[in-house]
Amino acid sequence: MLAVTEEMRTVMDFARKVLEGDGLGPDACDFMFGNPQETPLRGLVDALIRHVEPQDVHWFGYKKYEAPARESVARSLSQARSRHYKPDDIAITAGGFGAIAAALLAVLEVGDQVIYPRPGWFAYGAQIRGAAGTPIAVDLAPGTYDLDLERIEAAITGRTRVVVVNTPHNPTGRIFPRAQLDALADKLAAASERFGKVIYLLADEPYARLVFDGHAHISPAESYPHTLIAYSFGKTLLAPGERLGWLALGADMPEADRIRLREAVDMAQVSHGWAFAGRTLQRALPDLEKLSIDVAALARRRDRMVEGLRAAGYDLPVPEGTFYLIPRSPIPDDMAFAARLATDGVWVLPGSVAQLPGRLRISLTANDDMVERSLPVFARAIGEVAG
Ligand SMILES: Cc1ncc(COP(=O)(O)O)c(C=O)c1O
Repeated sequence: MLAVTEEMRTVMDFARKVLEGDGLGPDACDFMFGNPQETPLRGLVDALIRHVEPQDVHWFGYKKYEAPARESVARSLSQARSRHYKPDDIAITAGGFGAIAAALLAVLEVGDQVIYPRPGWFAYGAQIRGAAGTPIAVDLAPGTYDLDLERIEAAITGRTRVVVVNTPHNPTGRIFPRAQLDALADKLAAASERFGKVIYLLADEPYARLVFDGHAHISPAESYPHTLIAYSFGKTLLAPGERLGWLALGADMPEADRIRLREAVDMAQVSHGWAFAGRTLQRALPDLEKLSIDVAALARRRDRMVEGLRAAGYDLPVPEGTFYLIPRSPIPDDMAFAARLATDGVWVLPGSVAQLPGRLRISLTANDDMVERSLPVFARAIGEVAG
């Protein structure tokens, strides 16, 4: 856990500093961690109430999986991906964190290397260490944030067991094109052959349903058979504190491998604290599958914020998916600039905390009122350092 602590240090230090100060205050505009700033979806609340009421004495007894939950995920995955996903190949987990942990624990030997994207989600390194693996960060292509296939290939060794691909990508909002995923698949297949063992691809897809402008989510599972897919309901429902997600074994994975991995994934969940999702959430899952935050409203918020920031002089790409914006910090010290914004009650994640030094990460889970109140602050702050 000391190694895990090291991996989490930057983000934990930042969070501690924020929380230890005077607090955010009632009028703060919170763009930091993707936490909801609006009333939860009524459909989510209703589903939880509906399924919590016990109908027999075993209602809250130990049970790994509710069959309808696995069936529901298998059905919607099969529809979305035009492949046949089997309910037995779906593990219901405590969110995306749980899905990633189960995948890594299932396939890693102690010290195995796991390649993951930089910039990237802050917890990959910690989760890899937590599964006794060795994290190997590989940079995305500068500027475009595409997969850098040459760099990934150069990072693969005889100890590589997993390559993580997060698409749509936190924090850049990039959806990797199919050609890149196909090319990566070729390289992983060749390296697996060369080293005489399977290199797995972990497709981390919690933002699969948060895509804009008619973009389609493209899963690496369609390019590479040895793929495990991790999903979280936390983003689509904007309720990350209710821990529900799943891990799916790729539909094209050879059956013998799937049979072995099913057991390994279950034992990963058992050994790491009976980490299966709670029964009420599992029972509610088929109802929750049909729910989502309003993606069109999220896209409008993205557009308003992009337009407002650009008008003030900020340089930022338009994300294809997720709910993050990554404007360039007007001064190289993104920590200092984030601190300046915070003096006026606008709280963003400094890029240095998200492996994106020199930028800021703005989470659009803030509400529209916060967006409107923050834009004059962003404009004032860049004005102070301009020229
Ligand atoms: C890329 C990525 N993967 C996984 C997760 C974990 O999701 P959850 O907190 O719902 O488990 C997150 C959450 O921010 C994420 O951004």
